[in-house]
Amino acid sequence: MEQTFFMIKPDGTRRNLVGEIISRIEKKGLEIKAMKMMQISNRLAKKHYAEHIDKPFFSDLKEFITSGPVVAMVVEGPGAIKIVRRMMGQTDPAESTPGSIRGDYALSIDRNVVHGSDSPESAEREIDLFFSEDEII
Ligand code: PPS
Repeated sequence: MEQTFFMIKPDGTRRNLVGEIISRIEKKGLEIKAMKMMQISNRLAKKHYAEHIDKPFFSDLKEFITSGPVVAMVVEGPGAIKIVRRMMGQTDPAESTPGSIRGDYALSIDRNVVHGSDSPESAEREIDLFFSEDEII
């Protein structure tokens, strides 16, 4: 079994897409092992997006991800990291296939509704950043 970190971003919660997105995860057969709604602090945003700190879009990204509640999850299943990434669609919604979350619900790369870990290393790091061991069922 593999675990991944998955998050509905502030545009997703603002647009009342939480139920729809969780429903897709559940219907696929993946298991939600931890979940919480929370507001990301500047400090956590810098840690979570540390690899993008020098990118020109970083300050916009930080402002956006801290702008409202997110729903953070640990999602488990065989091949969960790749499966969740495929369900999300490409980072740029213009490239996302219809049927994927971004393909169906997003229009631009700076408001792309969801985040999912892109590798086993980032899954471990991101789960550890957002959840303590006793929060994972
Ligand atoms: S890169 O440069 O290829 O590594 O970046 P990329 O993987 O495309 O994007 C990394 C995350 O940054 C978000 N992003 C942006 N946010 C705000 N403004 C702009 N212009 C922008 N471009 C990219 C993008 O949605 C990715 O977020 P996550 O949460 O990792 O999916």
